[in-house]
Amino acid sequence: MITRLAVIRFAGELRKTVQQWRKRGQKVALVPTMGGLHEGHLSLVRLAKKHASRVVVSVFVNPAQFAPHEDYQSYPRNEERDWHKLSGVHPDVMYAPDASEIYPHDFATRVEVAGLTQTLEGVSRPHFFAGVTTVVAKLFLQCLPDLAVFGEKDYQQLLVVRRMVKDLNFPITILGAPIVREPDGLAMSSRNTYLDGVDRSLAPQLYAVLLDIAAGLASGRPVKESLSRGAARLENAGFKVDYLELRDSETLMPLERAGGATARLLAAVYLGRVRLIDNVEVA
Ligand code: PAJ
Repeated sequence: MITRLAVIRFAGELRKTVQQWRKRGQKVALVPTMGGLHEGHLSLVRLAKKHASRVVVSVFVNPAQFAPHEDYQSYPRNEERDWHKLSGVHPDVMYAPDASEIYPHDFATRVEVAGLTQTLEGVSRPHFFAGVTTVVAKLFLQCLPDLAVFGEKDYQQLLVVRRMVKDLNFPITILGAPIVREPDGLAMSSRNTYLDGVDRSLAPQLYAVLLDIAAGLASGRPVKESLSRGAARLENAGFKVDYLELRDSETLMPLERAGGATARLLAAVYLGRVRLIDNVEVA
């Protein structure tokens, strides 16, 4: 039977729908997104479908995770396009709430993870993670899924959400999904649409340099020198490097030596005004 992908706009209706599924013993997955959907998002839905018989995808551009100078106003929004893309991978529900359903006018609560959020993205975007954890906590409670899927593209975000879930005893399993890339290696991102032609052709070098550094580190090159040479290569190619760091994959503590299976190389760079993030595992 072919059914049209249902759109739900109210938390009460979402709860009722999910409760009915759970009463029938069906496992429910949530995939939180901000829309501007691409193959990276769709891969999360496919993974969710492997682990659950019902999948909800939320589409909500969360004002709380943008600073006033950031791109909240211009963030790509096209609900119809997102609906069509999602229809192709067959989740059960697209949850597209109005802002008032998430943040009623008297909303006064913030969910914040300490420690993990005070480094990397948290330095450049101090408001960001509290906005993310507040909205994700809210989406979890509105939906009450058994599991939720997050991409490794936003590696630190994935760790922060895991930490929140553990600390607050959310009865929800968090699955991480690998980064989906364009054929030239650029990690897919809703923000890639901001890149003009020249910058778009430069952008894949970020991944190429990360791979080179990771290979060097894996073969025993010293960390400090590898990172400073990598950063210089990126700057020469036309990027402005915000950070380029080797970190423990779980604690995000800086690593002075690679080796062992727990290292991650993470970077944030600017191409003009566009900020790109990417990361690779260092084996
Ligand atoms: P958004 O940037 O729309 O991303 C939604 C989910 O898709 C995140 O888990 C992100 O890591 C994942 N994703 C994005 N690009 C990906 C790629 N190329 N490969 C694999 N996964 C990818 O992240 C957010 O929204 C928000 O912060 C959110 C968690 C929804 C809270 O507002």
